[in-house]
Amino acid sequence: MGQTVFIPRELDANEPRVAASPETVKRLVSLGFEVIVEKGAGLGSRIPDQDFAGAGGTIGTTADAKKADVVLKVRRPTDAELKGYKPGAAVIAIMDPYGNDAAVAAMAKAGITAFSMEFMPRITRAQVMDVLSSQANLAGYQAVIDAAAEYDRALPMMMTAAGTVPAAKTFIMGVGVAGLQAIATARRLGAVVTATDVRPAVKEQVQSLGAKFLAVEDEEFKAAETAGGYAKEMSKEYQGKQAALTAEHIAKQDIVITTALIPGRPAPKLISGEMVASMKPGSVIVDLAVERGGNVEGAVPGKVVTTENGVKIVGHLNVPGRVAASASLLYAKNLYAFLETMVDKATKQLAIKRDDELVKATMLTDGGKVVHPNFAKADQLPRTEPAAIPATVLVADAADKKPTPRKTNNRKAAAKPKGSA
Ligand code: NAI
Repeated sequence: MGQTVFIPRELDANEPRVAASPETVKRLVSLGFEVIVEKGAGLGSRIPDQDFAGAGGTIGTTADAKKADVVLKVRRPTDAELKGYKPGAAVIAIMDPYGNDAAVAAMAKAGITAFSMEFMPRITRAQVMDVLSSQANLAGYQAVIDAAAEYDRALPMMMTAAGTVPAAKTFIMGVGVAGLQAIATARRLGAVVTATDVRPAVKEQVQSLGAKFLAVEDEEFKAAETAGGYAKEMSKEYQGKQAALTAEHIAKQDIVITTALIPGRPAPKLISGEMVASMKPGSVIVDLAVERGGNVEGAVPGKVVTTENGVKIVGHLNVPGRVAASASLLYAKNLYAFLETMVDKATKQLAIKRDDELVKATMLTDGGKVVHPNFAKADQLPRTEPAAIPATVLVADAADKKPTPRKTNNRKAAAKPKGSA
């Protein structure tokens, strides 16, 4: 008899995404799984139950979690959900474990084998499983759409018989996956786009998307990228120079979108209250980093704030969830691709290879213990384990692997591997 995969309805009121699509259900069934989808699980992503059923899934209830050998989720399971799982079940989700040690310990105690998808190494083989990229790409797009919706002028330049509407000046701060898509989207809408980042490799990508790159390009900037392709936390001196450059530029912008993150650290503060005050009334700032501490002074998680001088600061939570129907399809595919690597095709059973680098990087708990080196207690660790640094960085740095260029909509940007600028 085949093993069972369960896809629950997400409990968090702010989570419209779902961890399966009709396409992935069909594929799971052909892998040999019995698939049970909780009633209504896809509604927030516009997937009706009958579409899951049509793909070979069974529509079930919360109680069906007990039968599952594999649970596919968007968010980390709550204590109540954990009680409903059978010990030994594999649970795959965005676990958000940093600062949530008690929740990680609870998963170990429940006996589940928990996988944190956001720790997937950014190597070629795992590109199809990269939830950070699939979701950040949509967040970058949606940030521009949200900005355009709040902005009470047009974005493209329009020359009409009745006069000319100027193009909106748009500034993107932080050009990772989300920032690149924000640039591309703003450009498509006709905005005049500038962008900044602390990683030099980004400059060429920005230019190839038709935007202008703006940064303090000193010696520190030239060394600001880790082997894993992430940003380092910059010195106070650099931050000062960056702030001076930014301050002058921001005062002239209509729309600013910030996406800057540093793995395992709070988001860098890039826009001060004074900078916000220097902007024209009607300008819009979207802070995509708001859930990680925020890039913008005055940004409030989950709120659109209008400042005294009439600047709107948008702090929407779960931005990929604002395009849930698209986000779920990609997320579901990411999960399927990972699960497929853990299935023995001959026996059609789950066969987790604990020495596989993808498993090692993502497995948080197993056999009643917290097993991930970043979270396990010292006494559970083999002596050689490195200190607590984010797993994504850990994996890439340890193997001295450069992340491979990801797929973008822009061929020139995609063709240039990181660090080749
Ligand atoms: P992220 O979400 O960690 O950070 C977003 C951006 O903020 C980064 O570009 C970072 O350099 C920038 N940033 C940090 N501090 C800043 C500051 N003080 N001022 C301005 N900008 C600042 O980054 P994300 O999107 O996860 O991408 C990280 C890297 O991984 C990139 O180099 C990307 O090209 C690479 N990547 C590789 C993939 C692969 O499969 N090979 C897939 C996706 C990304």
